[in-house]
Amino acid sequence: MLFAQRLQGVASSPVRDLLALIDRPEVISFAGGLPAPELFDLDGLRAAFDQVLSTPAGRRHLQYAPTEGNIDLREIVAGRMSARGLPTTAGDLLITTGSQQALTLIATALLDPGAVVAVEEPTYLAALQCFQLAGARIVAVPGDQDGIDPAALAAVLHAERPRLLYLVPTFANPTGRTLTPARRAEVADLAAAHGTWVVEDDPYGELRYRGEPVPALASHPVAADCVLHLGSFSKIAAPGMRLGWVRSPARLRSALAVAKQAADLHTSTIDQAAAAAYLAATDMDAHVRGLRDAYRRRRDAMITAMPRTAPPGSTWTDPDGGMFTWLRLPEGHDSAALLPEALKRDVAFVPGAPFYATRPDRATLRLSFTTHTPEEITEGMRRLAEAFGT
Ligand SMILES: Cc1ncc(COP(=O)(O)O)c(C=O)c1O
Repeated sequence: MLFAQRLQGVASSPVRDLLALIDRPEVISFAGGLPAPELFDLDGLRAAFDQVLSTPAGRRHLQYAPTEGNIDLREIVAGRMSARGLPTTAGDLLITTGSQQALTLIATALLDPGAVVAVEEPTYLAALQCFQLAGARIVAVPGDQDGIDPAALAAVLHAERPRLLYLVPTFANPTGRTLTPARRAEVADLAAAHGTWVVEDDPYGELRYRGEPVPALASHPVAADCVLHLGSFSKIAAPGMRLGWVRSPARLRSALAVAKQAADLHTSTIDQAAAAAYLAATDMDAHVRGLRDAYRRRRDAMITAMPRTAPPGSTWTDPDGGMFTWLRLPEGHDSAALLPEALKRDVAFVPGAPFYATRPDRATLRLSFTTHTPEEITEGMRRLAEAFGT
């Protein structure tokens, strides 16, 4: 056998494979979860890199650095998290190379081969890859428009005794759904009662287009000792920075730091320093407000076009935030079979099946509304209607 056993059955991400296929300017892509590049603050980020590199003292930002991360950056991130209702100190945080790395570090620290990981189904593809690579056995828990179903979760916790529960509770990838406050309280109680670790993956929480913020799972006192909360710079600043963080209970911190040392010693010193300088100099709340306004219009363009795009009998989510809507075609449709028809018309989406850990619903697909302007979205949906034969 050429490769290690842990790679058996772990496929390349169909999303990333598809992105390589559709990298042509004429394609309107609803496939990748790509933030709008024209909304990246190019001037602000260039100024931040300039600032940290333009004096001799800047040499330290090109040096090796502590594993836990840049202290200024951790303090600013902790301040922003606290302001959003999750009291956090710099000491609670480990800076990671994207929140994706936090998933790997958590898997390394917590999962032995054969460990059970419970996920809401469907869920974030690269989290499934990460847990599969760790040799975990993934158990799916059903949910509905209000997120994971607490009664079903209670049954799984009882029957399977998972080591870890993975959730994207706010504006989930791929469904766009948000776990309601009442269910959050139930999930926190259940996790605490069963001693199950919970990963609350929250890259989208700040991108809310309607309604009131909901409290983080990690903010429930009963679950304070078992919830790891993941955040990211990717969707509010720029994913190419590859900067994320994990807020973890004290008892896990040194294990995560050891895992990080083994992975990459520390996240890029210069990128962290520039991010800290950027956050200190920028009115991030105003920047995020600008993102929200732009993305709200894009979501509205997609949802408005949906009734004339989706075949009669389809259902879809109308998300309060984030980047995705989740479309279910009528029974009997296979979204993967429709993808070539869409690609022929220079429009793309991601078939839903790979987001399922167990039994895929092949009638589903994911559409991202953040990458293109409202006008392009309207045109893309027109092409999609043709591909669907609507
Ligand atoms: C739910 C979820 N978690 C984590 C990530 C990874 O983000 P990052 O760029 O911070 O590594 C993504 C990216 O799309 C995501 O959707």
